[in-house]
Amino acid sequence: MQIIMMGAPGAGKGTQAAKIATKYEIPQISTGDMFRSAVAEGTELGKQAKEYMSAGKLVPDEVTIGIVRERLAKSDCEKGFILDGFPRTVEQADALGKILSDLGKEISAVINIDVPLSDLIERGVGRRICKSCGATYHIKFNAPVKENVCDACGGELYQRADDTAETMTKRLSVYEASTRPLIDYYKNAGVYVEIDGRQSISAVTEALNKVLLSVEG
Ligand code: AP5
Ligand code: MG
Repeated sequence: MQIIMMGAPGAGKGTQAAKIATKYEIPQISTGDMFRSAVAEGTELGKQAKEYMSAGKLVPDEVTIGIVRERLAKSDCEKGFILDGFPRTVEQADALGKILSDLGKEISAVINIDVPLSDLIERGVGRRICKSCGATYHIKFNAPVKENVCDACGGELYQRADDTAETMTKRLSVYEASTRPLIDYYKNAGVYVEIDGRQSISAVTEALNKVLLSVEG
């Protein structure tokens, strides 16, 4: 099962992709998480990516496509994978098509979590992430039992550097200009499914599970 999870910044891609990855035992491949790890490790990739990420801009296509090509060639992707936050430009989508055809695979579904732009800044600014296990929370919509402590592992929660209102606004405008056109791209390819992302986290999961049952089926 090769799934692409699409949606604007803060729409819930990561929250839902993590659940699908656990349920279907396939890797969640988040380009944002890969770049954040590289930044934390201070690698050459991290140094390159940091500048773009903190400005709310996209990392250049050739860099992003290169890391995804390498990642999809790993053996844990043989059974399938869920892409979270890739592709984000038409050039990335074209490159993904080529990578998959080289691997003898096809896209099973492109699932777009649709949330009005007016809701997204609050989602981003209120997000908190566990430093130890990466679990995602929201101070209002998915609060941990104890403030700033991860329910799952007891780790400390932190706020992403790009989750300020200012950088979120920039990320949303980049999404509109560069990523939204992929909706028509994948509609035309006949693999596009849309889910109403204004629902609760569990209602979105339920809607996703229905879509995935039909994909598996
Ligand atoms: P990335 O990390 O992918 O960020 P993003 O696309 O901006 O998306 P987010 O991770 O912010 O949101 P999400 O949809 O995962 O939402 P989440 O589930 O956390 O990318 C970061 C940067 O890396 C980019 O800006 C760019 O610089 C670079 N980059 C990454 N990929 C790239 C690419 N392909 N090309 C070039 N550059 C790239 O949820 C958000 C919050 O809302 C959480 O607090 C959550 O608890 C809450 N929430 C989730 N669902 C709901 C719900 N249904 N109701 C209420 N609250 C909810
Ligand atoms: Mg995410």
